[in-house]
Amino acid sequence: MSRGICKVVLDEELIPRSWYNILPDLPEPLPPPLNPATRSPVNPKDLEAIFAKELVRQEVSQDRWIPIPDEVRDVYKLWRPTPLYRAYRLEKALKTPAKIYYKYEGVSPPGSHKPNTAVAQAYYNMIEGIERLTTETGAGQWGSALAFACMLFGLKSTIYMVKVSYNQKPYRRILMEMWGAEVLASPSSRTEAGRKILEKDPDNPGSLGIAISEAIEDAVKDPRAKYTLGSVLNHVLLHQTVIGLEAREQFAVIDEYPDMIIGCIGGGSSFSGIFWPFYYDKVSGKAPKDIRFIAVEPTACPSITQGFYTYDHGDTARLTPLLKMYTLGHTFIPPPIHAGGLRYHGKAPTLCLLARHGIVDVRAYDQVSVFDAAALFTKTEGILPAPEPSHAIKAVIDEAIRCREENEEKTILFLLCGHGLLDMQAFDDYLRGKLHPYYYPREHVIEALRELKTLYPWLNGELSKALSE
Ligand SMILES: Cc1ncc(COP(=O)(O)O)c(C=O)c1O
Repeated sequence: MSRGICKVVLDEELIPRSWYNILPDLPEPLPPPLNPATRSPVNPKDLEAIFAKELVRQEVSQDRWIPIPDEVRDVYKLWRPTPLYRAYRLEKALKTPAKIYYKYEGVSPPGSHKPNTAVAQAYYNMIEGIERLTTETGAGQWGSALAFACMLFGLKSTIYMVKVSYNQKPYRRILMEMWGAEVLASPSSRTEAGRKILEKDPDNPGSLGIAISEAIEDAVKDPRAKYTLGSVLNHVLLHQTVIGLEAREQFAVIDEYPDMIIGCIGGGSSFSGIFWPFYYDKVSGKAPKDIRFIAVEPTACPSITQGFYTYDHGDTARLTPLLKMYTLGHTFIPPPIHAGGLRYHGKAPTLCLLARHGIVDVRAYDQVSVFDAAALFTKTEGILPAPEPSHAIKAVIDEAIRCREENEEKTILFLLCGHGLLDMQAFDDYLRGKLHPYYYPREHVIEALRELKTLYPWLNGELSKALSE
């Protein structure tokens, strides 16, 4: 029997013309970033020392729609609109009445959703006369996206790559170098932040927090350079909404609408990119269904499911402002699990606020169950997923099985935000039985929060409230 439509592909002219900004539609105003020295909200002007002016403007903008420059849309045309697939074979394997759809961002040249914002960020920096961009990267996905975007707009790029990934994933480094980037293993001896850490611990495996400190320090010391971030901040998340805006169009083509949207969260940008436009439908009364949003994180880095909702730094060296978010503490050194992109101690403040309000459900899975899910997906749908979105696949499988048990014909949409073709070591370790489940100990989180309390006694009320929960 022939099946219905397998993938929905839109014409290039349907690449969105504006990004959606959630700030005016949040259930309460977003708590502002604080300057730890003055304890007052950060003046956006201060952020211009590290970020392009236009990106700072977008960071605090209350405009619901932000036009996408033609030059950025022209680059998007290299791989956008991305396809929306129906996972018939996975549905069949699970014997589920649920319909499973996935939006596939692995078709971009770097192989993930990250260039959606990298291209925009490189473009704005280029028109403001900046010559070099710095950044950190975990798994190498963000670094490769930035290297790709800088190459397109004639900028240099310096990428601080978390040492454990630098060693585990040499192919991503090579890809970045092919696009003209300079890649350094972090902690590196290039910066003061890196040197300090190496003095104390020469074998430090690195973390996103440390790499962020290095990349910021490098940019601040060079007037021709700026820093870029691949997740967490509002401007980054809003650039990713091209994903959800296209998905909405694609569902309209097949006259469908999802009952739930599932995605993995590292800093929260890819998941926000897919669900924000549907959240807008919901708050503006346009959604035909009461849709659920489900975010998935690793048990090895359970920022929302085990972390505390409070102000904390975004990096280890405490160079960033204090952000109100769920955090494991900025001193977090992640266990070397394979989903390198999900090893960040905090999460996007907007996502944390929505989780706090119960608008987004968050759950955590261990890496063995996640790779089991990736294996089933590969055997049914054929695409090898990156370890990060495999967390989402695990949740999709659980939901589809629940639908089977409760005989519910739900429509599930998930974000396959990248392929795993450069993550072969992870899959080899999985196949040889070398992966083990890991649960980040709650005591470490409490300890980190106590340290934060000693550091900023003026956050006392806030921290005591968090610790008593
Ligand atoms: C493929 C992939 N997915 C997801 C993530 C997590 O980041 P975010 O939550 O910002 O999408 C990363 C981060 O590096 C990634 O490389």
